[in-house]
Amino acid sequence: MTRIVVRIGGSVVASPVNTNLMGKYADIIRQIKLQGHEVAVILGGGTLAREFIEIAKNLNLEPAAQDRIAISVSRLYAQLFMEKLGDLGCGKVITSLDEAAECFSQGKIVVMGGLKPGHTTDTVGALVAERLGVDLLVKGTNQEGVYTKDPCKFSDAVKLDKMTFDDLSRVLEYSEHKVGIHQVIDPMAIDILKRKHMKLIVFNGFKPENLILAVDSKNVGTVIS
Ligand code: UTP
Repeated sequence: MTRIVVRIGGSVVASPVNTNLMGKYADIIRQIKLQGHEVAVILGGGTLAREFIEIAKNLNLEPAAQDRIAISVSRLYAQLFMEKLGDLGCGKVITSLDEAAECFSQGKIVVMGGLKPGHTTDTVGALVAERLGVDLLVKGTNQEGVYTKDPCKFSDAVKLDKMTFDDLSRVLEYSEHKVGIHQVIDPMAIDILKRKHMKLIVFNGFKPENLILAVDSKNVGTVIS
């Protein structure tokens, strides 16, 4: 039995919304849960969250308000996912770490979007992992894993199979939070995972079966520890 946090990037299931993929994730997560693993799922807000951030900016709302708007969007996706899981979920979108612990202790799947301004759902994943004593955080992203540099900008970027958290910090563009930040994993999440000696696997989220490989400790994506 493993305790797992599954972070599904908004860039994967919500940019644009891909209901087929969401349904496949729900099936796989149900399967993992029925195998006896304990699972928390964190969904991101994708392009709709960024569109709402732009709207909030145009209304001259402060950055924390922009973040709160994006959090609401991610919680809508979380609600869709929670409804799709049915009885295996705890019947509501979780909005605090205490609620997450309570839901977990009832043997249910925790489903969350954002938590609070100032970071992304990657950090929510790391905070939940820390609070629930999780062994593994996996992130389904829109790349095969982590590269030596941004593969969207550099065609000579090389995918890495294994790396440390220090290596990861070095290859990322942003070292602190920005509203709407979009990179493979957010810097605050890296700090928590590194401090708590947790394992992170980043893989191509468009292939949901990668999640099964990651849970079974098979070679997939990039393993960071
Ligand atoms: P998300 O974490 O929802 O991004 O953050 P995403 O769509 O999954 O992106 P990828 O796929 O990882 O790239 C979107 C924005 O929502 C706000 C931040 O502004 C963040 O940049 N947010 C999200 C928060 O402020 N707090 C949270 O807990 C979560």
